[in-house]
Amino acid sequence: MGRDKVFVTRELPPASLDRLAKHCEVEVWHEFLPPDYDVILDKIGGLAGLLCLLTDRIDAPLMDAAPQIKVISNLAVGYDNIDIPAASQRGIPIGNTPGVLNETTADFAFALLMATARRIPEARQYIQDGKWLTWHPTVLSGQDVFGATLGIIGCGRIGAAVMRRAQGFNMRILVSSLESADEIRQLGGEKVSLDDLLGQSDFVSLHVPLTDETHHLIGERELKQMKPTAILINTARGSVLDPQALYAALRDGEILAAGLDVTEPEPIPLDDPLLTLDNCLVVPHIASASVATRAKMAEMAVDNVIAGLQGQPLPTCVNPEIYQRR
Ligand code: GLV
Repeated sequence: MGRDKVFVTRELPPASLDRLAKHCEVEVWHEFLPPDYDVILDKIGGLAGLLCLLTDRIDAPLMDAAPQIKVISNLAVGYDNIDIPAASQRGIPIGNTPGVLNETTADFAFALLMATARRIPEARQYIQDGKWLTWHPTVLSGQDVFGATLGIIGCGRIGAAVMRRAQGFNMRILVSSLESADEIRQLGGEKVSLDDLLGQSDFVSLHVPLTDETHHLIGERELKQMKPTAILINTARGSVLDPQALYAALRDGEILAAGLDVTEPEPIPLDDPLLTLDNCLVVPHIASASVATRAKMAEMAVDNVIAGLQGQPLPTCVNPEIYQRR
C-alpha cells in the first residue's frame, strides 16, 4: 500500500511541512495565489488529507469527489469557507486552529481601534501631502480611547481577549453575545442588547463567526443607531458587515470611522468606494499575522492532519459529533 497523500494548498513554515512529510506524501501548492477550485477537485479523489486555507471553498461536491478522505484541516480558526454540515453528513472530520491566535488577533483589533481613533494613517498621509507646516491646536484631532465605552459583539475567545486590553484603558465594556450576563460580568463586561450597545458605544468591535445568522448583522439599521462619533472595527469576517451600508454611513458622517481587517469581498477591489474614504482604514486580513502565531497555526493544522490520517480524533475538531456516530 502506498503512503497517504496530503495536499497542502499553500506554502507553510518548513518545520511544519517537514513534520507532516514524516507521516505522508505531501504535495504543496507553491503559487502565491490559491489553487482554483478545479485544481483541488482534480486532486481530491487521490487524497487522504487536505490542509487548506480560508481562501479555499470546500463544498459538498468536492467532498463527494473524495469518499476516501480522512481529514480536512483548515489553517484558520474560522471555517465559513467549509460546508460543515456536508462534512459531518459524510463523516469527514474538519480541523481548525483556535486558541493560538487569540492574543495576536486581539492585539490587532486594538491596533485598528487606536489607529482609527487617533487617525494615524491620515496623519502619515498629511505629511506625505506636504501639509505639516506647523503645530496646530485642532489639526488631526481624534477620539480618546482611555475611559471610552467599547461595545464587543460576540464574546468568544477573541472578544474576551479584546476586553482584557480594554480594561487596561479603563473602558466601560458593553457586550452583545450568546454568553450569559454572569459570564460576561466575570470578564469585566456588561451584557446588553445589540441596540443598546450600538447606541451607547464609542467603539464597536466585531468578534462573531460568519454564519447565516451573522451575515450582514451590521447594516443600515444598525449603523444608524451608532453615535456620529463612533468607530467600528471588524477583525471577524467581511460579510458580517454590509459594505454598501458602511460606505454610506462613513460618507454621510453617520459614524466617524471604521477599521477593517476583513472585507466583502476579499481581496477588496481597488475601485471599491470604501478605499476612497479617509475615515476608513482597510488592511488585508492580517490580524493573526505574527510570525510566531502563524507558525503555531501551521503546527496545529499539521497536528490535525496527522491525527486524521491515523484515524484518531482531531485535537481541534469543529465537528466532533461525527465521532459519536461511529
Ligand atoms: C483568520 O481569519 C482565521 O479565521 O484564522
